Amino acid sequence: MAETKKGLIIAIDGPAGAGKSTVSRLLAQRLGYRYIDTGALYRAIGLLAWEQGVSPDDGERLAALCDAADITLSDTRVLLGDRDITEDIRRPEMSQMASQVSAQPQVRRALLGLQRRLGGTGAAILEGRDIGTIVFPDADLKIFLDASIEERGRRRYAELQQRGEAKVSLAQTLREMAERDRRDSERAHAPLRPAADAIRIDTTALTQADVVDSMAELVHAHASIERKKGKPSS
Ligand code: DC
Repeated sequence: MAETKKGLIIAIDGPAGAGKSTVSRLLAQRLGYRYIDTGALYRAIGLLAWEQGVSPDDGERLAALCDAADITLSDTRVLLGDRDITEDIRRPEMSQMASQVSAQPQVRRALLGLQRRLGGTGAAILEGRDIGTIVFPDADLKIFLDASIEERGRRRYAELQQRGEAKVSLAQTLREMAERDRRDSERAHAPLRPAADAIRIDTTALTQADVVDSMAELVHAHASIERKKGKPSS
């Protein structure tokens, strides 16, 4: 980790629809930390591949796209150069594209340094699939969020409806989510799995406020343990 690190590095991993984005953003606001949505990076590469007709299996060409891409993440927007792609990358096709391009080792390698640079200075919450296992295996706090497939499908469907993606049915949303989970968990490189030292939270029956409160308690507990050890926590 960078020597100038100020504040904690918090890794939040889990499958699609577990509620990671919303609660990570809220926790970041509460702590005054940066929120880093690493899935947006894979989505941006998926969008570029889609638009440029690059196959999501062509690791070499995808790596070239990664090297040339100028992606900026703010707490709320995603930019590619000066183009705002925040809405475009949320389309259901881009979820599948992101999952496919993220299985390519060349893509994972190309995006690893960027994620470490973005989070390495600390006071950051990084959300994704492999943050606690690969990107920041020494993260100060690792949380793995999960929920039943039915609940995750329902949440994602409600989100799509809210955005006016009316042509997608609940059954199709569930099918696509299960397919994405399988691909993200079974890929050879950096598969989705909880780090051995991650704290698991099942969000199925919890409200977003409950989850944020639980995570904030974990942060405070971590800080008090570090204080007792005589280390500054943030
Ligand atoms: O979190 P999300 O649904 O926006 O992520 C989109 C895809 O990106 C996901 O299906 C797998 C991939 N991804 C990844 O492989 N590693 C990450 N750290 C984040 C996302």
